[in-house]
Amino acid sequence: MTEATSSDAIPQLTSYDDASLDRQFAALGEQVLRETGALRSQVAREAFHLRWLGRKQGRLKLVSDAWLKTAPVDARKSLGIRFNDLKQKIEAALAVAATTTAPAANNGVDITLPGTARAPGIEHPLLKTMREIERVFHHLGYSTALGPQVESDFYNFEALNFPPNHPARDTQDTLLIAGQQKRPQRDRLLMRTHTSPVQIRSMIAADPPVRVVVPGKVHRNDAADATHSPVFHQVEGLCVDTNITFSDLKGTLDHAMKSLFGSTVKTRFFPSFFPFTEPSADVQISCIFCAGAGCRKCKHSGWIELLGCGMVDPAVFASVDQQRVAQGHAPAYDPAKITGFAFGMGVERIAMIQHGISDIGQFYSGDMRFLEQFG
Ligand code: DAH
Repeated sequence: MTEATSSDAIPQLTSYDDASLDRQFAALGEQVLRETGALRSQVAREAFHLRWLGRKQGRLKLVSDAWLKTAPVDARKSLGIRFNDLKQKIEAALAVAATTTAPAANNGVDITLPGTARAPGIEHPLLKTMREIERVFHHLGYSTALGPQVESDFYNFEALNFPPNHPARDTQDTLLIAGQQKRPQRDRLLMRTHTSPVQIRSMIAADPPVRVVVPGKVHRNDAADATHSPVFHQVEGLCVDTNITFSDLKGTLDHAMKSLFGSTVKTRFFPSFFPFTEPSADVQISCIFCAGAGCRKCKHSGWIELLGCGMVDPAVFASVDQQRVAQGHAPAYDPAKITGFAFGMGVERIAMIQHGISDIGQFYSGDMRFLEQFG
C-alpha cells in the first residue's frame, strides 16, 4: 500500500461549488478503485477496510471531519450526497473483492461470527407412518421384505390368482413397460400395482413359517385428486404356518389398529373380494375423529375403511409350489397342511387419518411449511 500512502492526506476544501466538490470526490473515488483493484487476499481486504472505513482513523472519517463538519450550512447537503456515494462505492468495492479474493490460509475464518445454522433433517411423514406400521409388526415377530417396483405380470397378477383377462385386473389400472409385446404374457414387465407380489417372492424364497411385512412404493394409472396419486405406498403383510386361522388374522389386525390409532379404536370385518385370498375382508376402524358418533370424515357412518385382508387362497400356495419346483426347490406349501393370512394397507390413507390431512398432494409437494410440522 505504498502508493496509497503518498495520497494519504485529505486536502483542504477551498470552494463548495458543484464542480469543485465533484473533482475532489472523484479523486477519492479513483483512489478507492485503484486500491481495490490490487486486493488479492483476505488480509489485504481487511487492511483496506480499516484504512477507509475504520471508525477512528479511517479515511472516510477523516473526510467527514475535514469537509463535512466545517462546511457552511448551505453546502452540507451537496457534500452529504457525495459523501454517501463515496461510502457506497467503498462498500461495493469491498463486496466485489470479497467474492474474488482467496480466503487467508490461517486467519480466514472468524470463529466469533455466528455459524450458518442447518436444521437437522426429519423423516418424511409418509416414511414415518410406514416405519410405525412396520414396527408394530416387528414386535409381533414379522421381518421386513422388499421387492422390485418394476415387476413381471407373473408376480403382480398371475401367481396371485389373477388369470390373464380376469376382470379383477381392471381394478388395478396398470402402467406397463413399453416394448414387451413379444414376450410371453407372464414375463411382461409392469410397474407393480400393489406390494402383494412380494408375498409370492417371500414364499418362493423361504419355507414356512413366514411372517413378513412389505413396505413399498406402488404405481397405478390413476388421475391425481385429493385422495389419489399415481404413485403411492402400501404395507403388505403375510403370515403363513400350520394352523393359522381367520381369528389369528382378526386378532393381529385389531392389535395393529389399536397400536396405530389408540387403544379405544374398534375394528370390524366385512366380506370382500381379492383373487389371492379366500375368504377376503375389508377392515374398518371406528372413526377416530368422532369416536363412532358420525361426522363428515366418516361420512356419518362412524366407521372408516382402512385395509384389505383375507386367508391366503389355496391357488396361491399351488402357484408358489409350482414355481419353487421350476426353480429347483422342494415344494413346501401344501394347502392341505399350510394356511395363512395376508393384508394390505395404504400408507397415505393412514397418514392422512393420523394427521387430519385432507389433500394427498401435500405429501409430495416438498413444501417445507407442511413438512416441518412433522419434526
Ligand atoms: N393388494 C391389495 C390392493 O392393492 C390389498 C390387499 C388386500 C392386500 C388383501 C392383501 C390382501 O394382502 O390380503 O388393493
